[in-house]
Amino acid sequence: MTGETTHNLRGDYSGMRPDYTVEQAWSAYSREEHALWRRLYARQAALVPRYACREFIDSLAALDFGEAIPRFEEVNPRLARATGWEIVAVPGLVPDRVFFDHLAHRRFPVTVWLRKPEEFDYIVEPDVFHDFFGHVPLLFDPVFADYLQAYGRGGLKAERLGAIEMLSRLYWYTVEFGLIETAAGLRTYGAGILSSGGELPYCIDSGEPNRIRFDLLRIMRTRYKIDTFQETYFVIRDFRELFEATAPDFAPCYEELAGRESIPPRAVLPTDRMA
Ligand code: PHE
Ligand code: CO
Repeated sequence: MTGETTHNLRGDYSGMRPDYTVEQAWSAYSREEHALWRRLYARQAALVPRYACREFIDSLAALDFGEAIPRFEEVNPRLARATGWEIVAVPGLVPDRVFFDHLAHRRFPVTVWLRKPEEFDYIVEPDVFHDFFGHVPLLFDPVFADYLQAYGRGGLKAERLGAIEMLSRLYWYTVEFGLIETAAGLRTYGAGILSSGGELPYCIDSGEPNRIRFDLLRIMRTRYKIDTFQETYFVIRDFRELFEATAPDFAPCYEELAGRESIPPRAVLPTDRMA
């Protein structure tokens, strides 16, 4: 997730480097934390074959990190070979500019701390389970990997143009909560869904939420809630569509959208194409 604020954040920000990175300090994780990781992993891995996109399923199987909290330095050589990306350890959420800069340089920031056992089902801030389980597998997909880097570059530009809010909605409705059409039916590639025990089945099986065809400008206008299951999902055909739709310069989009009202999370417009 993007860092929207750095107030009252969990995590130890003392002793970090200027780019907010820290050592993962893997040996400091307790047995209880590794055991909690195994339980979190087992629950999600059982759901993944039915609800995740093929790219995520394949990558997760190849990575095989279900037994303990992964060592980032063990994954990094494989990630470097696959797509040239690298995981960097961070204390928690980082400021937008720092986050965008890491992505623009193909570095994905992963939070080092793990949630508490009582947060098994629900956590507001991203922890190592969300960041790693949800995000890292797709960094192995070349097209998705390029999209994420382009997003980081776009973020640096959006900051200069005062358009972070619009761009953050794109991240939210794709990287965190995106759905994708596949030969096996609707699936998800969104990390916020993939790391959630409840929303992974919900996003596909429930009759409640809207599922709307991907539409860049529509997404940039759509607000979102961070503390409930999503009321609307946007559906892409494949990562290529996502990459190509977001390739043009967004500056004119931001200008066009500047004066227009935002769209509530639950709304369906007459122009929406349902998926
Ligand atoms: N084309 C976008 C821009 O000009 C950059 C971008 C690419 C943003 C992919 C998000 C995702 O800002
Ligand atoms: Co995230």
